Amino acid sequence: MIYNPELIVERDDEVYPPSDDSILLIRSFDVRAGERILEIGCGSGIVSMHCALNGGVVTCGDINKKAAALTKRNMELNSMEAVVVETDVYSNIEGRLDTVIFNLPYLPVKEEGGLALAWSGGENGLGPLPALMEGAREHVVPGGRVIIVVSSLMDQNALWSVLEGFDVRILSELPLFFEKISVLKIIL
Ligand SMILES: C[S@@+](CC[C@H](N)C(=O)[O-])C[C@H]1O[C@@H](n2cnc3c(N)ncnc32)[C@H](O)[C@@H]1O
Repeated sequence: MIYNPELIVERDDEVYPPSDDSILLIRSFDVRAGERILEIGCGSGIVSMHCALNGGVVTCGDINKKAAALTKRNMELNSMEAVVVETDVYSNIEGRLDTVIFNLPYLPVKEEGGLALAWSGGENGLGPLPALMEGAREHVVPGGRVIIVVSSLMDQNALWSVLEGFDVRILSELPLFFEKISVLKIIL
């Protein structure tokens, strides 16, 4: 998708703002009209808004209730429609999707608090990735895709063990001075 910096995006001190990883993710994949998309961990809503702008039928959610509220507000400010829920990965998600997206909390740190949910991936940095992949076949149609953002700071053995047996492709990579982030597409 083409990143549109003109969208109105309000911020909240306790919600992850649009960042380099959000923009890399947006630019890494396309959406077709009518595609059923679920974004987990929607934060400000920036990725979901681009999916809606490109014709996706969007459901999105976040474990941080302030993020879910901010995404709703930003959708309204841009006259876009989406179902927005509070959810822990798939806990409040019904139905099957063509595409599931998650810009994961991917740092190997354990921190508490609303904003820390955006980066705190626990000891191995994987955070909710195991739950995302465990539920993928139930929530994504056969031939559908899961698109995630991962970091070189995650425990790489743990990462590739969770992804073992899946068809994984690298969509894009962004080397930063202390880590490399990658967008992965997993085909179900
Ligand atoms: C790195 S931020 C990404 C925000 C936004 N998608 C973006 O790209 O700018 C990760 C988001 O995932 C949310 N999150 C963390 N753990 C979650 C979980 N178990 N279920 C749902 N959302 C979660 C965080 O609250 C945060 O908003």
